[in-house]
Amino acid sequence: MAIDFSWRILQVVILSCLFSLASSLSTISVVGSKFYDNDGNQFFIKGVVYQPGGAGISYDPLSAEAQCTQDAALMKALGVNLIRVQSVKASSDHSGCMSAFENAGIYVLLDFNSFRSSFDATAPTWTTDQYNDCTAVMDAFASYSNTFGFVAGDELIQNLSESNASSYIKAAIIDLKSYRNSKGYREFPIGHASADVAGLIPFFQDYLACGGESIDFFGLNCFSWCGASSFVESGYNILEANSTGYDIPIFFSETGCTSGGTRTFTDQAAIFGPDMNSQWSGAIIYEWTNESSGFGLVTYGPFAVTTGTPIILPGDYIDLQKEWATLTPTGTPSSLYTITDTTPACPSFTSSGWLLSGDVPLPTLFKAVALPGSTSSASSSLSSPTATTQPDSANTGTGISTATPLNLIPEGLEVGEPPAREMDTSSSNIYEIGSDPSKRTSRNTILAELGSLPIHQHTQILPPSELPADPLTSRGHEGNS
Ligand SMILES: *[C@@H]1O[C@H](CO)[C@@H](O)[C@H](O)[C@H]1NC(C)=O
Ligand SMILES: *[C@@H]1O[C@H](CO)[C@@H](O)[C@H](O)[C@H]1NC(C)=O
Ligand SMILES: *[C@@H]1O[C@H](CO)[C@@H](O)[C@H](O)[C@H]1NC(C)=O
Ligand SMILES: *[C@@H]1O[C@H](CO)[C@@H](O)[C@H](O)[C@H]1NC(C)=O
Repeated sequence: MAIDFSWRILQVVILSCLFSLASSLSTISVVGSKFYDNDGNQFFIKGVVYQPGGAGISYDPLSAEAQCTQDAALMKALGVNLIRVQSVKASSDHSGCMSAFENAGIYVLLDFNSFRSSFDATAPTWTTDQYNDCTAVMDAFASYSNTFGFVAGDELIQNLSESNASSYIKAAIIDLKSYRNSKGYREFPIGHASADVAGLIPFFQDYLACGGESIDFFGLNCFSWCGASSFVESGYNILEANSTGYDIPIFFSETGCTSGGTRTFTDQAAIFGPDMNSQWSGAIIYEWTNESSGFGLVTYGPFAVTTGTPIILPGDYIDLQKEWATLTPTGTPSSLYTITDTTPACPSFTSSGWLLSGDVPLPTLFKAVALPGSTSSASSSLSSPTATTQPDSANTGTGISTATPLNLIPEGLEVGEPPAREMDTSSSNIYEIGSDPSKRTSRNTILAELGSLPIHQHTQILPPSELPADPLTSRGHEGNS
């Protein structure tokens, strides 16, 4: 009896230990231009891209629990609090990996991979196939408390001549936010990761946040701080100036230039220190495993393998660990944070520059609108949806047929009906009224002053593995129920 009783106590103790191990991480929310945990502490991202084998392969790293557990332990020791995963398969079981990362205090930011790989900025689309692929990923991760949020699109706009495709990216994110809200999910942020294209920033950044509807965060993939660079030489001072007063969170969604020799990550001191930390919310280092592009913090041995024992790379892992250990900004507790930033004005059209005129009506699913420079009219688009909305299969070979029946209309959205935002845009100057002119003035003054400084020309250095990924989402819609 007595033995039985103490065994029960032991069982209770063991169970409660297990429970406390499994106790969930605080969810993260957006307040103004900052991220906060549930206790009101500002959250700064110390992230890594986690895509063993490279982004171009059909592999879901969040489906391999044993590997996740090994990696999570080393990441925790490095100081990582977030991973960005660029390719997942919605139908896989992610519970083991999600709890492995949660137990290590690590959040997960997920890309909607098929939107990233099926989007062509020269013939932009936002179709129900793309939509259903994205919502399947959202459904698969919505319930985890360490799901940080979602990235819709990575480096989709590659030059200014493609800037008029931006309205499709914004439309996708607005629709996905509507889906999130219609499902009653918590308001995890949904944003975009932009390439660092000379001349595109800050127009694109402002466009995605301007007007009546905004994306939830803006990520910049930026590789301009190479080797022993500086705040000014890297052009980070201009990034900072061009984001001062930005009213949604902004962070480095990929960073870590390798072309300056061994990486010492001195850029982290600028990002997490007083130069940038009142506006920027951290950085995601490209990338965890060393692939053929040579950006790794650890290696599993050979390239392009998806599993293995992680071996740390001293010049990268150790140097980043040292940098991050000294950089622990507390930011602004939510109790002391007063939101003063206002919605940016929508940038104006400039020939051979930013190609959208202010807050243009957003394209809707299967209903493209005429944009400046486009010869197609809204009515011709309507009569032939696929004329302006290329089938996904044309871009990706996903095998999703253009004949996919249209009975997949998700809850909460009426495909083909103009959503509320279209009605709002009848007044094209609404955002001039809504924006704060004094802010624009001060920002323009800053830029005018910067104009007299030597402006470092940003060169866009894309890791080779960033090239268009092979989608994992050729499965159809089975994850969407
Ligand atoms: C813009 O980028 C796209 C895709 O990389 C390319 O096809 C196109 O030629 C570029 N246009 C210009 C004007 O550089
Ligand atoms: C900041 O914005 C100005 C235009 O407003 C632009 O000329 C400059 O290139 C931008 N800086 C960066 C780093 O993109
Ligand atoms: C990492 O990748 C680069 C580029 O391919 C390669 O030169 C280097 O040897 C790799 N490092 C290790 C330790 O495997
Ligand atoms: C964007 O502008 C270019 C050049 O004016 C034009 O060829 C293209 O069709 C436009 N794209 C869209 C989506 O309107």
